[in-house]
Amino acid sequence: MSIKEHPPLHVPVLLESVLQLLDPKLGENYLDLTAGYGGHADAILGITTNYAESVLVDRDECAIRTLERFSTQGARLVHTDFLAAARQLVSQGTQFSLILIDLGVSSPQLDIASRGFSFTHDGPLDMRMDHRNQLTAERLVNTLRRDELVRIISEYGEEPAGVARRYVDAIISARPLHTTGELRDVILGAHVGRWQRTHPATRTFQGLRIAVNDELRQVEQVLPLMTQLLRPGGRVGVISFHSLEDRMVKRYFAEQSQAGYEAELQILTRKPIDGATYDVHNPRARSAKLRVAVKK
Ligand SMILES: C[S@@+](CC[C@H](N)C(=O)[O-])C[C@H]1O[C@@H](n2cnc3c(N)ncnc32)[C@H](O)[C@@H]1O
Repeated sequence: MSIKEHPPLHVPVLLESVLQLLDPKLGENYLDLTAGYGGHADAILGITTNYAESVLVDRDECAIRTLERFSTQGARLVHTDFLAAARQLVSQGTQFSLILIDLGVSSPQLDIASRGFSFTHDGPLDMRMDHRNQLTAERLVNTLRRDELVRIISEYGEEPAGVARRYVDAIISARPLHTTGELRDVILGAHVGRWQRTHPATRTFQGLRIAVNDELRQVEQVLPLMTQLLRPGGRVGVISFHSLEDRMVKRYFAEQSQAGYEAELQILTRKPIDGATYDVHNPRARSAKLRVAVKK
């Protein structure tokens, strides 16, 4: 299924809160480090109208193709991971009034079976956001040692270690696995007890996706670049979808705002803005948390 035949539906999460806290103004320039399908970018650039000095980054080629509407208006599109993009912008000395990082996967990534992110749409065990990378979920599932898989599912997936070990034993006995449906069924077979809201495979899929895309290292290393990329008075917002990422954002903002006169940032969200309260109609926002800070 091509994105062209089926235009993706991606509703930007916490859009109202993002606009309220980032508070874009006419003429300000914007850096979107996870531009995706351009929902936040549409709203922000619609206010600032400064396309020419704005940069939209995504590592997903399908996303970049749908962002071409912005480049025709003068914005720069960068098809790479946000750590590489941010490093390059820092080395060029470019600074922005507005920066947004909306982490995680987009609805089209989840909904298109061939991307291999979803246990509800059977597809190849892929999970790569950037197809130029070699590492797939299939390779991890079929080649890693037991302790390595347990670590991915318990640390990145935040599954209790005992449960992770049970799932991994089942995976190892069933190898080789090739599809998301096969992996889901192996986990369902190893699951003990009843389940309600969260499907038993959710955390395993989260862990594998994080490992395939090296997501935590990307976030950990990009955050310290924010102060260099912001103009004085500039605002940065980060939307995260699980506690591992939110913890990093919270720690980074705290470190940067607690250095007395040396402090570079002022936090605008003492408590994170959570999607379950502030974006109730968007199912994707259920676990979203937004933190925003301003550069002094
Ligand atoms: C939640 S979606 C963003 C949606 C976007 N804010 C919108 O309104 O359409 C996350 C996007 O970030 C991209 N992404 C995730 N991690 C990335 C990284 N490390 N570098 C670049 N892009 C990344 C994904 O490919 C995906 O398109």
